[in-house]
Amino acid sequence: MTQRGTFTKASVRDAPLDRSRVLARVDFNVPLTEGESGRTVADDTRIRAALPTIELIRERGSPTVLVSHLGRPKQGPDPALSMAPVAARLAELLGAEVRMAPAVVGPEVELEAERLGRGELLVLENSRFEPGETSNDPELAGALARLADVYVDDAFGAAHRAHATTEGVAHLLPGYAGLLLEREVRELTAVRDHPERPLCVVLGGAKVSDKIGVIDRFLDRADSVLIAGAMCFSFFRARGIQTGDSLVEEEGIALAQRVLERAEPSACELLLPIDLVAGRAFEATTEVRELDGIAVPDGWMGLDIGPRTAAEYSRVITAAGTVFWNGPMGAFELAPFASGTRAVGEAVAAAPGLTVVGGGDSAAALARFGLADRVDWLSTGGGASLELMEGKPLPGVEVLLDA
Ligand code: 3PG
Repeated sequence: MTQRGTFTKASVRDAPLDRSRVLARVDFNVPLTEGESGRTVADDTRIRAALPTIELIRERGSPTVLVSHLGRPKQGPDPALSMAPVAARLAELLGAEVRMAPAVVGPEVELEAERLGRGELLVLENSRFEPGETSNDPELAGALARLADVYVDDAFGAAHRAHATTEGVAHLLPGYAGLLLEREVRELTAVRDHPERPLCVVLGGAKVSDKIGVIDRFLDRADSVLIAGAMCFSFFRARGIQTGDSLVEEEGIALAQRVLERAEPSACELLLPIDLVAGRAFEATTEVRELDGIAVPDGWMGLDIGPRTAAEYSRVITAAGTVFWNGPMGAFELAPFASGTRAVGEAVAAAPGLTVVGGGDSAAALARFGLADRVDWLSTGGGASLELMEGKPLPGVEVLLDA
C-alpha cells in the first residue's frame, strides 16, 4: 500500500543490522486471560502488528532482544504480569523458538543476550518490573544498552512515554524506527495535517479530560466534531440539562463549557447527541428505555446514543473525505447498548473517504462487529494516537536518529 504522511526518522530498513545485536522495543501490552493451561494472550493484535519488523530483523540475521511493558505493575516483579505467555504466543506466530529471559537486565540476561545466534530471539521480562523504567533512570538505560549494538523502536503504542526502554536507551544506542511505528506516524499525521475535506472527527469514551486536547485542536481545523459516549453528559450538564444517574465527569463540565463557547463562532460543526438509550443500571439484563431526547430522568443512566443521533452521525461520517474515530458511542460491551457504536462503526467502515481509527476501545468495538479490516488504518496506539493527533511531540519518536 502507498505510504501516506511524512516521516523524518531513520528506518530499520536502513539500519546497519548485519552482525549487530538489536534491542527492539515493541508494545506487547496485550490483554491476558487465565485458562486451564495457565495465562494466555487474549488478543494478539499488537504482537501480529510487530511481526513485519521482527521478521525483517531476523532475515537480516541479527540476534534480537525484544522488550516491552505489560500492564502497570506497581511493586516490582509480579508473576501475573510476566511476559512468558507473550513470548509463547510470539513463538507460535513466528513458528520459531523464542527464549524468555529471567529478568529485564542483569548479568544473567547479558549472558543470554551474548549467546544469541543469527536471527535468534530473546524476550526480556516486563520492563515495568524495574522501577527505573517509568522514571527513565539512566542506569537502567545503560544496562539495557549493554544488551545490544542497535536500538529499533516499533512500540508506537508506548511512544508517548519517556521511559528507559522507549527513550532513555535511545540516547546510548543508535535508534531506528520499526515498520509499524513509521506507518502509524505516517497514517495519523496524514489525517492531522493533510486531510481530504470534509474532515470529520468522532470522539466517544467516558471523559472529556481524556479528549480535550484533540477537541481543542480540531475545533479549529475539522469540518465537524461528533461527540458521544459518557463524556457527552459533561456537555449536557454544562448546558443545564438533566443527566439522571448517568456517569458524569464533574471536572469535565468546565472543559465542556469552554468547548461549547469556542464552538459557537467556529466554522466547525460541533454535534452532540439528540436522543439516547437509557438503562436502570450498567448491566446487560437491566430495564432499557429509548429516550425521546437527551434529558435523562432520575433513576436512569444514559448508556448509548439513540437511533436519530446514530443516523445523523452516520450521515456526516459517510459524507466525509476523512474520518478520525476514537472512543465508543456507549456501553457497547452490553448488548442492549451496542447499537450506537455498531451504527457508527458501520458508517466508518462504509465511508468512501480515508478512515483512521485509534484507541483500544474503538478497535475492540470494530473487532466485535467484524469491521476491523474495513477501515483504512486501525492504530495500535490509544494514548499515543491521541497525543500525536493533538500535535504533541512523542518522546519515543523524537529521540530516534533523523533519516
Ligand atoms: C497502551 O496500552 O496504550 C500502551 O501500551 C501504553 O500503556 P500505558 O498507558 O500503561 O503506558
